[in-house]
Amino acid sequence: MAILHGGQLSRVAKQYQIPENEWLDLSTGIAPFSYGIPVIPAKAWQDLPTISSSLIKAAKHYYRADFCWPVAGSQQLIEKLPKLWDEKLNQRVSEKHDVKNSRVENTEIKHAYLPKVGYKEHQQAWSKAGYQLHFYQQCLPENIEKNSIVVVINPNNPLTDTFTISQLLSLKKYCEQQQALLIIDEAFADIFVPEFSFVPHIINHQHEHNDVIVLRSFGKFFGLAGVRIGFACSTQIWCETIKKSIGPWSINGPALFIAEQALQDKQWQVEQNKRLDQQSQIMQQLLKTYLPAARVEANALFITVFLINAPAVYEKLCQQAVYVRLTDENNALRFGLTDKVNTQRLSDALATIV
Ligand SMILES: Cc1ncc(COP(=O)(O)O)c(C=O)c1O
Repeated sequence: MAILHGGQLSRVAKQYQIPENEWLDLSTGIAPFSYGIPVIPAKAWQDLPTISSSLIKAAKHYYRADFCWPVAGSQQLIEKLPKLWDEKLNQRVSEKHDVKNSRVENTEIKHAYLPKVGYKEHQQAWSKAGYQLHFYQQCLPENIEKNSIVVVINPNNPLTDTFTISQLLSLKKYCEQQQALLIIDEAFADIFVPEFSFVPHIINHQHEHNDVIVLRSFGKFFGLAGVRIGFACSTQIWCETIKKSIGPWSINGPALFIAEQALQDKQWQVEQNKRLDQQSQIMQQLLKTYLPAARVEANALFITVFLINAPAVYEKLCQQAVYVRLTDENNALRFGLTDKVNTQRLSDALATIV
């Protein structure tokens, strides 16, 4: 079944019979301030796209990675990982049975550990691949089966919860013991202090069970979700595997060109951090004022407001053509950020519902 995400404006507009262009759409966590599209050389459109060493250099520097590889949005890799991990497990079984040149299928029950609340595409991908799903939330899983996989969304979308590097290092060690794959989704990590990211803690040793992949989304912080590029940061072996699996031309030339410029543009990144932080502070204050009974949690790309009557508030905002994301659990609303002009519009809408 298709997962319901934010960004479904046409569906909501139809439901409330308000023309699409009259809505204030705060339903996603994509920055409202986008990186300016540079002039794109004709060659970027004309040639088959190649991953240049200068792009890899820029990405390694930005993510502080020893090894990374671009993908067509981190979503592309989320969908591919079950197959890649199954291949690795089958290879392990073949080696154990000493069967050369022929694959032995791993027939054991396969286990995936995921946050109960979190970007649902992870759950869907592992469930489709036949994995038995186990859920955790506040505490990272402490008992995991051999050969399993663990997904951590850090910070969580939509809850905003975070785990520390030391918690993740312990989990990584445990995953190694259990020969498990650790996937850390840092789609919303750009705006944090650099120390937040797990990427610099990936050690590229040849240890057989060094299986950790950090997913980085480009579109959110740079406000260019339509460009469809993201990065996998991992060991050299995993980056090679990912490179082979996505094939030669998955990411279009203009996307590669834009990402290379944006990842190197330190000044813009610093300014973007400032803009997002200021806007988040203003909106948090607004939400606390108009929804005093709510618990307001934020990261710099969205604000999640936990409310007993979240569906009713969602409904009232929709009636005023303000579209936010009602969580699947119906206990919170996620507000993406907006610019100063539209903040007034949000304020007016909130004022009428209290
Ligand atoms: C937590 C999380 N991870 C990954 C993605 C996929 O983003 P993208 O494919 O644009 O990198 C999303 C999209 O909303 C997300 O919320």
